[in-house]
Amino acid sequence: MDKIRFTINSRQVVADKGAAILEVALQNDIYIPHLCYHPSLKPRGVCRLCTVEVNGGGLATACRTLAEEGMEVRTRSPDVDRAVRPIIELLIADHHASCRGCPSSGRCELQRIMANLRIDRRRVRRLRATKKELPMETLKPGFDYEPNKCVRCGICVQTCEDLHGTSCLYFMERGYGTRIVFFGDKSKCESCLECVVRCPVGVLISKKT
Ligand code: FES
Repeated sequence: MDKIRFTINSRQVVADKGAAILEVALQNDIYIPHLCYHPSLKPRGVCRLCTVEVNGGGLATACRTLAEEGMEVRTRSPDVDRAVRPIIELLIADHHASCRGCPSSGRCELQRIMANLRIDRRRVRRLRATKKELPMETLKPGFDYEPNKCVRCGICVQTCEDLHGTSCLYFMERGYGTRIVFFGDKSKCESCLECVVRCPVGVLISKKT
């Protein structure tokens, strides 16, 4: 496979031609915030949290932008910050109020992003709208869905589609009301629980774990 060389934050990296910037960054232990990216899935560019600056100018989503020879990528800059910070602050404000007791605490991608971007919890608290907590749902015997934590990244839906050809999980409703539901015949679910494993924020919870 042809190789290319480019820089991320002034550090030279070598990558296979055709690799996306985010893929290469993560392989080289350079963290770029991301929620809707999973290495096994086709990147969809939904969350926009992987925004980076390319060649000292434009912004691009690192999960969907292919690295090029000689490219200069910056993962942090005032423009990147202006693009990413409001998205993550609103997502956190809409997320469940507390990490206490969450089975994903410590391996949650939102916690990681908050730490990486040094998000001010007090500022986010002010953005939090008063809304009714929704009850936990049992999507199917074996696993539950916590709607108050869902970041609508779509990894669970895409995983099911990808592994089984058709998804048992779907998005229902729109905007802040969007949630994940089981659709159709629940017996079609093969209980592989890969959607649970890949959920970045502990929204899907296996009762076996
Ligand atoms: Fe790139 Fe979500 S990880 S847009």
